[in-house]
Amino acid sequence: MFEVPVNNDIYLRQLQVQDAPMVYKQLDLSRKSLRKFLPWVDYNTSEEHSIRFIQMMQRKAEEQEAVALGIWYQHQLCGVMDLHGWDHQLQKAEIGYWVGEVFQGKGIATAACKALITYAFKKLKLNKIEIRFVLQNERSGQIPIRLGFAKEGILRHNAKLHGQYVDMVVMGVLRQDWKY
Ligand SMILES: CC(C)(COP(=O)(O)OP(=O)(O)OC[C@H]1O[C@@H](n2cnc3c(N)ncnc32)[C@H](O)[C@@H]1OP(=O)(O)O)[C@@H](O)C(=O)NCCC(=O)NCCS
Repeated sequence: MFEVPVNNDIYLRQLQVQDAPMVYKQLDLSRKSLRKFLPWVDYNTSEEHSIRFIQMMQRKAEEQEAVALGIWYQHQLCGVMDLHGWDHQLQKAEIGYWVGEVFQGKGIATAACKALITYAFKKLKLNKIEIRFVLQNERSGQIPIRLGFAKEGILRHNAKLHGQYVDMVVMGVLRQDWKY
């Protein structure tokens, strides 16, 4: 079971099936703000979808392919952060995240991301972390910038958002450059 303490208010813990109602509740309350850049939100319409997501991520965690973590803020689940695209040969992975609307703007995603990256470099022995975001998603893009990632490039028409192709920015940080 993955657990990553962040600070006095925040911790990350691997999602379990019993967390599904809380995950779904946050998602449902924030549907409007999340769907703008996360197309899967429209297909997630019941608690059952959150259960299936957690079960799928548990299977991936067993294979060390990915892991989904709940973000707890003052003991309430406020969002989800994940490690995916875990490549054992290259020792690298990508981080993704969303935070419920009422919890946004408090620095939660930045602090949680920082702690997860330190965990990934120290405990999982990764060498590189990437964050990819839709070019127009400035709030998301601010997180890797704040954490000192380098911009590595733009993947053109690399996702489809509400019927439109969109470009993705790739940012990365290497273990050797990480400020612990
Ligand atoms: C992108 C997203 C995860 C950011 O979550 P968040 O917790 O608000 O993000 P941050 O940690 O970066 O918070 C930064 C904001 O908090 C403020 N803040 C307050 N205290 C802070 C602190 N100690 N440290 C950093 N920022 C702080 C910043 O000023 C900033 O506000 P701004 O965005 O208005 O400039 C969230 O907006 C979200 O879920 N969006 C929809 C889904 C999405 O786009 N996911 C990413 C897909 S790639």
